[in-house]
Amino acid sequence: RLFSSQRDLPGHDVPSFAFAFDIDGVLLHVAKPIPGASETLRFLNEHHIPFILLTNGGGKHESERVRDLSEKLGVPLTTDNFVQSHTPFRELVDGPDGLRDKTILVTGGDADKCRAIAEGYGFRNVVTPADILVAEPAVFPFDPLLESVYASTSRPLPHPVYRPSALSSSTSASSTSLTIDAIFVFNDPRDWAVDIQIITDLLLSSGGRLGTYSTRNGDASLPNCGWQQDGQPPLYFSNGDLLWSTGYHLPRFGQGAFQAAVAGVWRRLTGGHELIRRVLGKPSTETYRFAERVLAAHRHEVLRRLGKGAHRPGTLSAVYMVGDNPESDIAGANSYRSEVGTHWRSVLVRTGVWSADRAPEETLKDQFKPSVVVNDVREAVRWALEKEG
Ligand code: G3P
Ligand code: MG
Repeated sequence: RLFSSQRDLPGHDVPSFAFAFDIDGVLLHVAKPIPGASETLRFLNEHHIPFILLTNGGGKHESERVRDLSEKLGVPLTTDNFVQSHTPFRELVDGPDGLRDKTILVTGGDADKCRAIAEGYGFRNVVTPADILVAEPAVFPFDPLLESVYASTSRPLPHPVYRPSALSSSTSASSTSLTIDAIFVFNDPRDWAVDIQIITDLLLSSGGRLGTYSTRNGDASLPNCGWQQDGQPPLYFSNGDLLWSTGYHLPRFGQGAFQAAVAGVWRRLTGGHELIRRVLGKPSTETYRFAERVLAAHRHEVLRRLGKGAHRPGTLSAVYMVGDNPESDIAGANSYRSEVGTHWRSVLVRTGVWSADRAPEETLKDQFKPSVVVNDVREAVRWALEKEG
């Protein structure tokens, strides 16, 4: 049995608290359930205690990933309470600066799959590095390592890449050459060199027109010495994790390592300027705010199904974020300030990327220190239930 006695169950039949679970290192390890994970989720489902799965992973559409997870964990899960690193990108489709009909560059582990996800979110014009390489191979002067992959996944570009010889003036370049309005890193790219080259080209361009070079770059009389001050596309990373827990016995590089590489090259190119970018995913405030909204909607749905929503929907008093990464899960929960007054607490487990040998608890900086350290997800939930009991 998961919990020793009925006493351990929350006293109220409509709990005002909820859980947010990280996936890699908390529920799964290399695609296998971590002991206790399945029964913990089953227990929460049975007792109508709301939870959300909040992962910095991605690369699959939410519905596909939820299907996989339900199968692996043997627990029915839904997309209603599931947030991946790139899920909040959805919110950039519509609204005053919506990108639905703009042209965006998408990259990731399998950029073509990431394109399909982006299209599923509603973006209509999605370009990948493969499209650019196939249309304009000179963009990358080395033999592309994954040429066959690029060729097989590329699509024709909506406009050609600008070339001074092919187009007579910069005026014609603006209307007839490929212009990228935003750049999205959906998950961990594999071919860093190609992606860094193309992203950097766009950040140096005039107005996102690939193949142009802004005359403002390096102009000391302009803010930020002119870098990224000429209508270049905003650059979004879906998560900042430097490391994550995999099948190897030591943590491996995540998307944050790719981001550091882009920022490092940018610093060298610009004489020390910081790369302007937005990083979503945990620990960003945007992602916690988004997760809180998803969790609140999910909780209302749970209450409605129980026939209690109409009487006492209320707001959540507490969310327990259970994670394995102090710099991501824990830092995010610690720093997030809810606009509706929900108190986020952080619970660190020993089943993932964090190791007490490499980074003893007492040496963790304040922002990375959890409310409590426990062995695994089952103990995390037990600890929270005792607190709430
Ligand atoms: O950054 C890699 C990602 O897979 C980590 O996932 O579930 O630990 O946030 P998660
Ligand atoms: Mg994790």
